[in-house]
Amino acid sequence: MRVPLPLSEAFGASFETLITGFAAEEKLMPEAEALNSQRYLARSVIPHVQKLSDLFNRVERLRPSEDEEPEVRRKAQDPAAAAKGLAPYWTESSNPANLRLAYFLYFMPANLYRVASVWAELSRLGYRWPEGRPLDAIELGAGPASGACGISAGERHAPCGLPERGQFALIEQDKPMLELGARWASRYFTDNGRPDWGTRTFRRRLDFAEPLLPRNAPRFNLWLSSYFLNETTESPRAVALRLLETWKRHLDDEGLVILVEPALKFQSRKLLEVRQAILEEVDSHRAGFPLQVLLPCLGHQACGALAAEEDWCHEEVSWWRPPYFKRIDQMAGLDRKTLPFSYLVLARSSRPREEILPALAAHPGAPRQRLVSPAHSEGQDLEFFVCGSDGKRRARYRPQASIEGSDELGRGDILVGPQVRGDVHASRIDKILQRL
Ligand SMILES: C[S@@+](CC[C@H](N)C(=O)[O-])C[C@H]1O[C@@H](n2cnc3c(N)ncnc32)[C@H](O)[C@@H]1O
Repeated sequence: MRVPLPLSEAFGASFETLITGFAAEEKLMPEAEALNSQRYLARSVIPHVQKLSDLFNRVERLRPSEDEEPEVRRKAQDPAAAAKGLAPYWTESSNPANLRLAYFLYFMPANLYRVASVWAELSRLGYRWPEGRPLDAIELGAGPASGACGISAGERHAPCGLPERGQFALIEQDKPMLELGARWASRYFTDNGRPDWGTRTFRRRLDFAEPLLPRNAPRFNLWLSSYFLNETTESPRAVALRLLETWKRHLDDEGLVILVEPALKFQSRKLLEVRQAILEEVDSHRAGFPLQVLLPCLGHQACGALAAEEDWCHEEVSWWRPPYFKRIDQMAGLDRKTLPFSYLVLARSSRPREEILPALAAHPGAPRQRLVSPAHSEGQDLEFFVCGSDGKRRARYRPQASIEGSDELGRGDILVGPQVRGDVHASRIDKILQRL
């Protein structure tokens, strides 16, 4: 995904000053300079970063391997069994304060940046917030308000026209994290030029077996969750049905939904299955309201990645990490120079997609394929995987001098009007009309 330079550079020294100053004020760490100390990092941060990293990968490790017994495979594929690996980590830790600090310093900025990048993709494709509409947003499983803060960073560096005033309802089961998130959001919104954006906090454990919001809860026009759905124990279909029921009542007309999830295979496939179940309900009109997939798929086609058992779909963004973040990476043996993730953007709207994302309108009716892998050179050709209305295919393409940027294709790029020959295993794209 192409992230505008100012956004990719927005997490340097000044972000470090902001977040470390805030963390010290909150008494999460002794002083802002503590992160310059290898000893402090080694004792109070790194073990918790490693622990969380292991924990978040645990679901993936429960993934069944081919040679396991059918019963073992069945259990391992059961999302309820898999998600048990994540049961309430904030409170069960021996040092919850340092665990929250590690999350706040390391996982929060990365998720914030992922959400900001999705907002930037909407901006790049011309999405504009309707003039005069207030911002009434909600974030589920908000943790330290990473999603809400991601929207403010996205809007600052890749604007879609959000208003000066805005409210985010933050829903989270862990009280200290929720309260930290509200205070951080207030600081970060102001830093991003949105002093009049605010939050309301709701400490709640969401249970997908029951309604997610009280009936008298208001309607929202921006619906967020980041790295949350994979922690639910219900099946993708049950998650989809519960979300649809909630959106029917609590998502405004022309409201947007942004769901960001891990890039790991098992968790990414869960999002793809949620998408599929949502589309089954929407396209058969059982959902009872219009909802359309905007990104990444640009349509309601059957998922090209789900078609193969071993496949999944993810994006990737690069950033200039905060300097302290680089030190954590080095010491923890991690490398978050690029951030992978899976995502889905939906709109409650009957307007044509080209009206919502006007950058798609240049060649009406032309098919579109999105690169879902990096492109590598094969002689004079580029080779990559694309996904479009007819599924996913491996393709080769020789860049055209007349098409700007066609020689430097990358994951997330959109090919407009590709002329495709061959089968899904080996296609050739002879010509494109535009690269987006
Ligand atoms: C991996 S964290 C993600 C936090 C934040 N959204 C982000 O992107 O950084 C998942 C969060 O969801 C919360 N959570 C998980 N299950 C929940 C539930 N059933 N109800 C409310 N919050 C939940 C956890 O407490 C945790 O803070």
